Amino acid sequence: MKQSRLGPSQVTLKASNFFGLPEKPSEFFALMMRIGLLVCLVASIFLALHSAFWARSSHRFALPDRIRKARDFSAQNDDDVGPTNISHIIFGIGGSVHTWRERSHYSLHWWDPNATRGFVWLDAKPKPDVINGSVSIPYRVSEDWTRFKYSSSQSAVRIARIVLESFRVGLPNARWFVMGDDDTVFFADNLVSVLASYDHTQMYYIGGNSESVEQDAMHSYDMAFGGGGFAISRPLAARLAMILDGCLGRYYRFYGSDQRIWACLSELGVSLTRHRGFHQLDIRENPYGLLAAHPLVPLVSLHHLDYLNPLFPEQTQIESVETLMKAYRVDPGRILQQCFCYDKKRKWSISISWGYTLQIYPFMLAAMELQTPMQTFKTWRSWSNGPYTFNTRPVSNDPCQQPLVYFLERVEEVGESGTRSSFVMSVSKEAKKCGREAYKHVMAVPRVVVSSMKMDRDYWNKGPVRQCCEIMDRGSVKNGTMRIRIRKCRPKETITF
Ligand SMILES: *[C@@H]1O[C@H](CO)[C@@H](O)[C@H](O)[C@H]1NC(C)=O
Ligand SMILES: *[C@@H]1O[C@H](CO)[C@@H](O)[C@H](O)[C@H]1NC(C)=O
Ligand SMILES: *[C@@H]1O[C@H](CO)[C@@H](O)[C@H](O)[C@H]1NC(C)=O
Ligand SMILES: *[C@@H]1O[C@H](CO)[C@@H](O)[C@H](O)[C@H]1NC(C)=O
Repeated sequence: MKQSRLGPSQVTLKASNFFGLPEKPSEFFALMMRIGLLVCLVASIFLALHSAFWARSSHRFALPDRIRKARDFSAQNDDDVGPTNISHIIFGIGGSVHTWRERSHYSLHWWDPNATRGFVWLDAKPKPDVINGSVSIPYRVSEDWTRFKYSSSQSAVRIARIVLESFRVGLPNARWFVMGDDDTVFFADNLVSVLASYDHTQMYYIGGNSESVEQDAMHSYDMAFGGGGFAISRPLAARLAMILDGCLGRYYRFYGSDQRIWACLSELGVSLTRHRGFHQLDIRENPYGLLAAHPLVPLVSLHHLDYLNPLFPEQTQIESVETLMKAYRVDPGRILQQCFCYDKKRKWSISISWGYTLQIYPFMLAAMELQTPMQTFKTWRSWSNGPYTFNTRPVSNDPCQQPLVYFLERVEEVGESGTRSSFVMSVSKEAKKCGREAYKHVMAVPRVVVSSMKMDRDYWNKGPVRQCCEIMDRGSVKNGTMRIRIRKCRPKETITF
């Protein structure tokens, strides 16, 4: 009978002669050669594997095909194969029966009942009129959360547990659990393109912190603020689900649900991957300056819109979202993307925040200025002028130093892959006007039409580069309209005035 295992004596023998070294020197030499070769082989295999794994976890880069295929081949589940799409995301919206009917109006504009998966989590079973009056997001009632200790906010415990409850629902093919408030507006296509660039089989916690330094200092710079929404990859959600109930008690003094999640994730050794497309919008008054100079990343979310001036003049908050969404649906990746062009003859600087606003300055202003948000807002808690987690530039009291501002009027598709949008000048009656000639010349252009090609699907997977724009027809104004085209910059083109 064959021995399948070594007896004790053989083990001793093997151990004392670990490399199986022979006695004779010549054989010894040949063997050393063979061992050398083997070491080289093992080392090169190791290096190849190491670089494959390194690439796999370096989330900011699109995975090369070779590695993607290898990974897909080794994937345990079918659902880990192929690029991430909307069906892989499970949303968990924190709601309550008292506010859901009204707050759900925001969801109407981003939740696609045929594609979006997840639930709004309510604190009690809603009366039929709550559900009748709101949109078709399926709801669930949170399981008992009152057994947990808390100091200031009991509902924060309930909202924090949404990650866990969402995970336990066990929907198939879930790669990401995305949490948001009932007044968070998600731009789901962009959320997908952001999440698709990370490896969902690793542990990730992705979101953004507060715009107001006072808020970050009070809560944490390192936590994802819940209103801007945050994403937790499946393996991390699985680990969090195991520890969360035990962990909540340790952080009962915290105010928010998001801070509890952050604290518990810290115990798993996972820290926040910040993405600047998630917007908590912890600011007051007018968010205009920030949205007119969005960072060079896709827009993922907006929050607190009920607490802010409407995005568009003469529209309500909710109508403004509708208007923005119209542009977003035409060219999702481009929404709020900024580009600059100069009319060198007339010495105008033009900034476009696509799908939202356009500004003409009747003087030259460098790209570094144009990309810095104008401070049209105050901080969240103390309504102060700052500081913020990004640079701002003050809005001058001198109307001659301010740009003329245009807002989106209409967007339309042109052919298969083009778009045309018109922007109309907005000058409020009470606004002080500048008496200079240069300013009056801009006043003679009440409308600007902007054309562009839709953004490539993989635009955000490459090193993001701002696109260029150019003034058409040598800047001539026909029937009060000037035309501008947005396009890729030419190889040696710079944004220089
Ligand atoms: C998403 O990807 C899965 C494969 O992982 C595929 O079966 C499904 O059809 C895709 N869904 C959409 C909406 O593209
Ligand atoms: C959802 O799908 C149904 C049937 O396919 C269709 O009639 C409906 O218009 C779709 N709804 C949306 C919001 O796309
Ligand atoms: C839902 O609301 C509509 C009008 O808002 C009403 O006509 C209808 O009877 C309601 N349905 C239920 C089931 O309450
Ligand atoms: C001039 O612009 C107005 C809107 O501002 C439009 O109604 C009109 O048709 C335009 N005329 C021509 C000739 O393009």
